[in-house]
Amino acid sequence: MLRTAARGTTLHTQVNGITIAYSDQGTGLPIVFLHAFPLNRSMWAQQEDALSLQFRVITVDLRGHGESDAPLWCYTLEQSADDVNALLDQLSIQQAIFAGLSMGGYILFAFYRKYAARVKGLVLADTRAQADTAEGKDGRFQMAQTAYKKGPSAIADIMIPKLLSPSTIQTRQDLVQQVRAMIEGNQISGIAGDLMAMAERPDSIPLLSQITCPTQIIVGEVDQATPPSDAKLMADQIHNARLAVIPNAAHLANLEQPEAFNHIVANFVSELSKPSR
Ligand code: MLT
Repeated sequence: MLRTAARGTTLHTQVNGITIAYSDQGTGLPIVFLHAFPLNRSMWAQQEDALSLQFRVITVDLRGHGESDAPLWCYTLEQSADDVNALLDQLSIQQAIFAGLSMGGYILFAFYRKYAARVKGLVLADTRAQADTAEGKDGRFQMAQTAYKKGPSAIADIMIPKLLSPSTIQTRQDLVQQVRAMIEGNQISGIAGDLMAMAERPDSIPLLSQITCPTQIIVGEVDQATPPSDAKLMADQIHNARLAVIPNAAHLANLEQPEAFNHIVANFVSELSKPSR
């Protein structure tokens, strides 16, 4: 039986033939958070704690990650979008705000293509609309081979310098270890599956001008994986989109600067919560 969880409770449900883990806290306008690669929904803990005081916050372990199943087969980002859609059906949520960081944002583009009527607003954080280049696809292939041969800790070694700023890596071992634990908690099938899914994702630039819902774009000032120029490109092409650049943050801006991130999201969602005149 689906229900609203007490703080911190993990819930499980069956969607599209697999078990998905999620949490559901607070009341009010729902915000659905989709995590980055190769992490899990615990990356949103500080958003969950702060924002569930005002809103209903749902975080999802996408297929292949965290406590959700990581089946050994082909993955697509559309499939992850279908999983999220099926979860919302089960929770009887007609419309929500969706916040995706990096891969979470790629999945939101797939979600918007199929389920735009469900989207009341979008938060696109540290993500990009472009598809992978040929070189980028080759890098995905190489990383999948590394995951297969050396395991998730080798992926953590490669990814941590791309996810966190040099100053965080030098001075915040707690955060570095938290990110490492998330990465090492994944199964190889999930890591390789998502690498294939991201390599095959379509170019979402043509979609940008068709996005009609309110959109907040967020980027860490020193994000090198999806830099501010990618965020600006989205802001320029999505009608009336807003852009916020968070100082002293790299790719995982929500973890490095949670207060600034939460403030931006809370303002955006509060405006959408007001009854329209
Ligand atoms: C992520 O944070 O989800 C990844 O950096 C996305 C990517 O590899 O393109």
